[in-house]
Amino acid sequence: MPHNHSVRNHCLPSTAAVHAGENRLKAQHALIDPVFQTSTYTFDNMADVVAYQEAHNKGHVDDRFEYGRYGNPTTAAAEARLAALEHAETAILVASGMAALAYTFLQYLPSGSHIVMTDDSYRRTRQLCEEHLKKFNVDCTVVPLGDFAALEAAIRPETRLLFSETPSNPYLRVLDVERFAGIGQRRGVLTAIDATFSTPINLNPLAYGVDLVIHSATKYLGGHNDLLAGVIAGSHKVVDPIRDYIGILGGISDPNTAYLLIRGLKTLSLRVRQQNETAQKVAEFLSAHPAIETVYYPGLETHPGYELASKQMKGFGGVLSFTVKGGREETFRFIDALQIPFISPSLGGTESLVLHVAAQAYSDLDAEQCLKAGIPQNLVRLALGIEDVDDLIADLGQALRTLQA
Ligand SMILES: Cc1ncc(COP(=O)(O)O)c(C=O)c1O
Repeated sequence: MPHNHSVRNHCLPSTAAVHAGENRLKAQHALIDPVFQTSTYTFDNMADVVAYQEAHNKGHVDDRFEYGRYGNPTTAAAEARLAALEHAETAILVASGMAALAYTFLQYLPSGSHIVMTDDSYRRTRQLCEEHLKKFNVDCTVVPLGDFAALEAAIRPETRLLFSETPSNPYLRVLDVERFAGIGQRRGVLTAIDATFSTPINLNPLAYGVDLVIHSATKYLGGHNDLLAGVIAGSHKVVDPIRDYIGILGGISDPNTAYLLIRGLKTLSLRVRQQNETAQKVAEFLSAHPAIETVYYPGLETHPGYELASKQMKGFGGVLSFTVKGGREETFRFIDALQIPFISPSLGGTESLVLHVAAQAYSDLDAEQCLKAGIPQNLVRLALGIEDVDDLIADLGQALRTLQA
């Protein structure tokens, strides 16, 4: 008799990425679960309906579904695997990283409340908090990442959420996650971290006492630049109310995306370990290059987050930023000369991607406003894929030579 157990939270990340949350015995003895392409589910008769509703109202239904907005077996399998990777009791898969952030904020920031967030976060998240939450009478204070005195001082009686990102974007600054979680616990305020740049392979924020971890699964978790999704993970107590709210708001992830995510997750550990190694070698190469001004990567001893990242993370990640010697024109010339990385505003997939931060993420600001926002015209973000590091370094080298000509 085949045994039908599921592998959950008791295995290491590479194993969890391949097996967590799956039933060993699958339909037709297939190795791979099918995509449950259905919008709704059926009941045998009214007694079946009543039994389902009674169990559901008591919170006792795990493997039976009623309607697609409330759940799907393929999505649930992806969620179980993501929960295992984050050592979380539960996880929710939604339509995008921004949806994960928006639903979390909408659930935990009622009218009249206040959020404290750290700077150098994803620009859209800052816009959501600083501009759009105002419509719901929610106030936002931004404090410098790492300035814990400012973080504590910003907390008010109506503060409901402390939010940060690590490593941050684009300067890859590293948050002391334990200290951040400790402040939330001491002051009775919920803490959430967007750990997209870390991945569950390099960091598990929940292990440090953070309440919620959020990812843009579009990046490393999906890993192939072919899907958009977001994840919210944590305890049932904190995550289940968000899940209930999403049942009303919509914006769930569809089963095909969940399937692609499950497929992508199987190689998460391999990809991230290679991306860590590649980024380290590229950062060292760029730091020693005469056409480069400064490299921002937590794996370099010169980076302010190096010591903390060495203690807190299993790897330094696959993204780095740097300034080239020159202005906008020279930087454009360098980017245009690159032959392997695509010019594109994402990260974490198999293909290396390069971004001119000012021209792409801050295109609505002029050069002076960009500088005020800490974004010079010679700042480049490079997200490493899984290509051979020697090819990437050779490509960067030839593109940098165009600056020296
Ligand atoms: C750190 C971080 N969080 C959230 C997001 C938003 O994710 P998505 O594009 O999946 O909505 C991004 C997107 O670039 C990001 O870099």
